[in-house]
Amino acid sequence: MFSFGFGKKQTEDIVLEVPKHIAIIMDGNGRWAKKRMQPRIMGHKAGMDALQAVTKSASDMGVKVLTVYAFSTENWSRPEKEVKFIMNLPVEFYDKYVPDLHANNVKIQMIGDHTRLPEATLNALQKAEEKTKNNTGLILNFALNYGGRDELTRAVKSIVQDALDAKFNPGDIDEAVIADYLYTGSLPDRLRDPDLVIRTSGEIRLSNFLPWQTAYSELYFTDIAWPDFDEQALKEAIVEYNRRHRRFGGI
Ligand code: FPP
Repeated sequence: MFSFGFGKKQTEDIVLEVPKHIAIIMDGNGRWAKKRMQPRIMGHKAGMDALQAVTKSASDMGVKVLTVYAFSTENWSRPEKEVKFIMNLPVEFYDKYVPDLHANNVKIQMIGDHTRLPEATLNALQKAEEKTKNNTGLILNFALNYGGRDELTRAVKSIVQDALDAKFNPGDIDEAVIADYLYTGSLPDRLRDPDLVIRTSGEIRLSNFLPWQTAYSELYFTDIAWPDFDEQALKEAIVEYNRRHRRFGGI
């Protein structure tokens, strides 16, 4: 539960249930920059700054896991210059923001296929993971070169291989086994599935983001471009989440 004054007219605090795991599709960086007559990459830079601020807000509110879609398996088709710029962001992020996040007890993790990442990108993320591995606060989970279908394909291959190696019987494969083989198997057991998915900038789709894990997530779409998404916008999403009645297939 988290209590805050919401809106200028609010005189009393309202008590809200804070989602344990929030996943964000940080969309609209390019359009944000274009609107300001700036190159698209400036939108990504502003997006990184927004990520730092939102991570701290989420941490203050008591969110346990924040998974952010930073680069998809489909994003490689963007112009080389833009891909290079995004791939350098973790390096900048490490120097500029990780010390502050570390001081705030944030633990950094990542999901996705990291075999294709440039060495400097991977190195920065691994250093961030290593530095923050003993922290006990919010887990900031970067989805980098992540694709949901790719994740499921890899999981199927590993499960089949382990069954062939007689580690278990095919008949024993259940939902829990599959969840263990997904990238999100690296997250604490009851925190793997997002309670709330937020997508910024007006598009209403999930774009190959966590297809297994979002089966019962509440979905929230806002027209705000990611670089403009802030603590107030996060609170509004959480207020809307509280209006939903999650039934998980029951009544
Ligand atoms: C989508 O907006 C955004 C991305 C593909 C990149 C998101 C990356 C960040 C916010 C920075 C993350 C920080 C680190 C440290 C990795 P878009 O470019 O598709 O926007 P558009 O739809 O307006 O073109």
